[in-house]
Formats: sequence, C-alpha cells, structure tokens
Amino acid sequence: MKIVTILCQKGGVGKTTFTVNLGKILSNRGFKTLIIDTDPQGNVSTYLNLNKDEENIINSTDLLEKNYDKKIGSLSENLYIIPSNKSILKHNDEKIIGGPKLNRAKDFLASYHFDIVIIDTPPTISSLTQEALAVSDYYLIPAKPEFLAVEGVSQAMSFAKITISSIKKADPIFLGVVLNQVDTRRASFKDFETELKFLLSDKMFNSKISQLTEIADSPFYSKTVLDFKEQSRARLEFLEFSNEFIERVGL
Ligand SMILES: Nc1ncnc2c1ncn2[C@@H]1O[C@H](COP(=O)(O)OP(=O)(O)OP(=O)(O)O)[C@@H](O)[C@H]1O
Ligand SMILES: [Mg+2]
Repeated sequence: MKIVTILCQKGGVGKTTFTVNLGKILSNRGFKTLIIDTDPQGNVSTYLNLNKDEENIINSTDLLEKNYDKKIGSLSENLYIIPSNKSILKHNDEKIIGGPKLNRAKDFLASYHFDIVIIDTPPTISSLTQEALAVSDYYLIPAKPEFLAVEGVSQAMSFAKITISSIKKADPIFLGVVLNQVDTRRASFKDFETELKFLLSDKMFNSKISQLTEIADSPFYSKTVLDFKEQSRARLEFLEFSNEFIERVGL
C-alpha cells in the first residue's frame, strides 16, 4: 500500500481535480484505490456526487478519532472513498504541529489491501495536512501558472519539510510538482516554467494538464476525464500524467 498526499496551501490549484481523476484512472487500471478527503469543504464528494454526510460509512473524522466500526464506502469495484465534512474542523489547528493521530489508521487501511491511497487536503497551512503527510509515503504539489505561483510552491515545499522534520517517523518522499491549468499562449508561461524548473530540477513532472473547459465543467456533471471521448485532450493528458505518476511511485 502506497499513500500519497496532494497538497498546496493555495486554493484552486487542482488538488481535488487531481485526486479524483487520478483515483478514477488508477482504479480503472486495476489498482485497488482509496481516496481520503481531509478537507472540511468535502469537495471530493461533491465532485463525485456522493453524500459527504452519509452516516453509515466511515469518514475522515472517524479515521482521526479511531472509530473503525463502519465500513469504507465504495464507488466502483476498485474505487473506495473516505469522505470529509465540517465535523473534521474540530481537529483543525492552524498553529499546532499535528501528526500521530492518523497513524493507527494505517493498520486499519492495511486490512483492506489497497494498492494506492490518495489524500486530498485543504487549502490552508493546517494540522489536517500535517496528519496526511505524517502517514504518507509520497507527496505531490499541483501548481497553477499564475502570478506568485512559484512562491506558493516554495511555501508548500517548506511547509512539508518543516512538518516532516518535526514529526517522528514521518518520512514521505517529494514526488514533485505537476503543472495544471496551463495556457502556453500566455506570455508569462515560459518564464514561469523556467523559474520553477530552476527551483525543482527533476522534481517537475514532464506531463502537464492544460486549462480546459471540459475539466472546468466536469464537476458540474460528476464526470471524470474517463467519461470523455477517447481522443479528448483532458483524458489523454491525465492518462499521460497517470503513467508518469505510476512510474515515479513504482506502482
Ligand atoms: N486543468 C483545468 N482546466 C480547467 N479548469 C480546471 C482545471 N483544473 C481544475 N480546474 C477547475 O478549477 C477549480 C479548482 O480546482 P480544484 O477544486 O481541483 O482545486 P483545489 O486545489 O482542490 O481547490 P481548494 O484549494 O479550494 O480545495 C475547479 O472549478 C476545477 O474544476
Ligand atoms: Mg480541493
């Protein structure tokens, strides 16, 4: 079981879009996949048209509170979801270094024999993201090429580093940065890419996702890129990204 956290304190960079589409593609390729939402906004459920307040399945607050008596919700044969809702806010502390609360959950999750677990996190510097990092093997940062984005990425990287060095046994590997909502026609894009490559070298994914209206619209219809036509750009780009992800994680 490999656990990957998707994080960035900046809002709207694509954390949930990557969580949902990557989760869907990996499960479709036969990997037993779990998505855990730790964001009080509960967007994973909204994107997938699920009820985030469903009481009969385990949610991320239960996971933090070690209530393992409910079952994990399943969306399709290989795709499982642990949703989040506002109840998780009581565990959100913006000052305290979190960490070990989720540790026991690892044994519980291991009993399901997942191949991959993807954790979506809130757009804040918070102990919820630290909890996710503390149990992860890898972390991934999506970035949207826009003003101050390089600063956003370096803040996310240093937040992760500080967290990892303050929590015993936390040792996730930085998978890299993946660019999202790319519009290569914008004059600033090349400068942005060059600056980021300088900061990251090989920690930048070769594949990137363009700014595409079909991706922007997909949550409205609870669609993932796999619901699009075979030759659709969104689908092809996400499949390419997923291949690179599989290679980098060693799935
Ligand atoms: N490649 C893309 N092209 C067009 N729209 C996109 C793309 N990626 C994401 N979006 C849209 O941008 C918005 C923000 O994406 P998303 O919710 O995935 O970001 P987030 O980082 O999870 O946000 P938050 O920080 O609020 O949790 C959504 O409306 C989403 O549909
Ligand atoms: Mg989100």
